[in-house]
Amino acid sequence: MPIRIAPSILAADFLHLDKEIEMLNTYADIIHLDVMDGSFVPNISFGFSVLEPVSKIARIPMDAHLMIVHPEKYIERIAALGIQMISVHLEAILQQGDDPSEMLNSIRSLGCQAGLAFNPDVPVEECYPYLKDCDYVLAMSVRAGFGGQNIDPNIYSRVKTLKTEIERQGLTTPVEIDGGVTILNAPELAEAGVDIFVAGSTVFKATDPASVIAFLRGAGQVPLQEYNSAL
Ligand code: DX5
Ligand code: ZN
Repeated sequence: MPIRIAPSILAADFLHLDKEIEMLNTYADIIHLDVMDGSFVPNISFGFSVLEPVSKIARIPMDAHLMIVHPEKYIERIAALGIQMISVHLEAILQQGDDPSEMLNSIRSLGCQAGLAFNPDVPVEECYPYLKDCDYVLAMSVRAGFGGQNIDPNIYSRVKTLKTEIERQGLTTPVEIDGGVTILNAPELAEAGVDIFVAGSTVFKATDPASVIAFLRGAGQVPLQEYNSAL
């Protein structure tokens, strides 16, 4: 499967969000929606007042990344918007004493792809028991909460370890990483086995976001110099 690019609208221009979504409809693969509650993470982003209008004009799949406590309260409403991918944080589920397999399967039962997200300080092994219950893994490459952070250098080996375990379990679960992705580190990340890149600042702060998306998608295959004018 080719690498897919999921720009995070956290870094978009919210005064012109319709134009930003239209750009993603044309050039990206997935629209990444970062929902933060100020409790699971120290920051607040947006909720249904953004998810609803975006879902009305999105023509590519949407991916809701729930950085919230008690995500089970909202997944039905999110699924009803036609948002195809919903990820929940392993730490949040365990902290509230719930069973990650049950939570993931309840997302699946709504007809959505279930993603299991976890922060850089969570040992990757902790997600192994739940791999069979998720449709994608969201390995955070920065601590969840803010856009524009530097990538955690451990992500390369974490992705490799995860990919090996996914294969060992006879699965083909895609690995999505989120945070600090740039055109400079994308080739090495692609080499490590990343299937889906979430990228906020790198896409939306570029002069030519379409070219940046194209470069990320072909990471490691197209020389960077060909994209220099886009940056
Ligand atoms: C962080 C969010 C990310 C973030 C990525 O909590 O989950 O999706 O927006 O932003 P960049 O690409 O700017 O690091
Ligand atoms: Zn995210």
